[in-house]
Amino acid sequence: MHDPAALRSMHLARFNAEPAIFVAPGRVNLIGEHTDYAEGFVMPVAINFATLAAISPRTDGKIVIYSENFGEEKAFDAGVTPKAHKDWSDYPMGVVAILSGEGHKFPGFSLTLWGDVPLGSGLSSSAALEVVTALAVLSLIGASYPGPQLARLCQRVENEFVGANCGIMDQFISANGKKDHALLLDCRDLSYRLAPIPENVAIVIANTMVKHSIAGGDYPTRRRESEAACAIIASHRPGVPFLRDATLEDLEKWGHEMEPKSLMRARHVISENLRTVAASEALLRGDMKELGRLMAEAHKSYSGDFEGSCVEADTMVDLAQDLPGLIGARLTGGGFGGCTVNLVEQKYAESFAKTLGERYAAKTGIVPEIHVCHASDGAHRME
Ligand code: GLA
Repeated sequence: MHDPAALRSMHLARFNAEPAIFVAPGRVNLIGEHTDYAEGFVMPVAINFATLAAISPRTDGKIVIYSENFGEEKAFDAGVTPKAHKDWSDYPMGVVAILSGEGHKFPGFSLTLWGDVPLGSGLSSSAALEVVTALAVLSLIGASYPGPQLARLCQRVENEFVGANCGIMDQFISANGKKDHALLLDCRDLSYRLAPIPENVAIVIANTMVKHSIAGGDYPTRRRESEAACAIIASHRPGVPFLRDATLEDLEKWGHEMEPKSLMRARHVISENLRTVAASEALLRGDMKELGRLMAEAHKSYSGDFEGSCVEADTMVDLAQDLPGLIGARLTGGGFGGCTVNLVEQKYAESFAKTLGERYAAKTGIVPEIHVCHASDGAHRME
């Protein structure tokens, strides 16, 4: 439950000051994986798992941050440029660092953080933490940014402070999501279109319980491999700075010059862009069957050409196939573990979740966490 009153009491008890309270959601991506940093298309949904932040000013020149999830308090001097410590505080302090670099001056403050986005599960707990911190600290100085710009600044926290080479999808949807809608984002110019999710469709998120990290080795390796393919295309056709601009014909012509793995990664990214645009059109016209088909193709490509899945995620997707009510299932997020996203007819959602969980536990020996979720609003002030 996202209860601002509970967070306020926690903050009051610890810091003895009345806070302002903000929330930023995690996300699930319906389709469009590893396309954001190629300036392509993604179609995520903000979900009803989120991070909440309570903030109040201090007069002693300190920044004191308490994470209820980690049960830990950290103190910093306001006005001193923060450095990364390789722990949870890098996300909030990275926000302070990037925004300070933009010329903002922050007074001391107390910040209490609490969230229920499962960590390391591909549901963007870190983006939620960045976006909620950004809203909170900006409110202290009476500043704000339009959602797309806020997302760009929070992406820079990952890229420049935390050292994770991610794209903009997660921060963008956390800042700009809309209740009951998916968001088709063009990662080149950050223009977007909202598509309503029909009322009779549930989003079932199935956690394989296999942890992933985008700061780990696989994500940057895949990114490098796909960018190497792009460089070869660009050497023949200079109008291709990103795979967004490449075509499957380019791969037919010049694929033989690429490392086999690079060719496979590029084939995933180029075809995924086509699928994502088609999927958004299918959702807009309410063609759920076509959307489900595209999600299935996307999983095949993610697992096959991109080699971004793992045995457990492939198993979770396979086990969903013949369950009543399934529209489409695929691995979501950065890959190599984490969660699958399942679109399911609402009336079957509970039984789908139960049976999928039982089947997965029986097959893998791992007890999964399965949640029936709904599309939620992006980050905002709660009180
Ligand atoms: C992670 C990154 C995103 C995106 C996805 C893969 O979630 O943070 O920028 O690249 O992986 O689609």
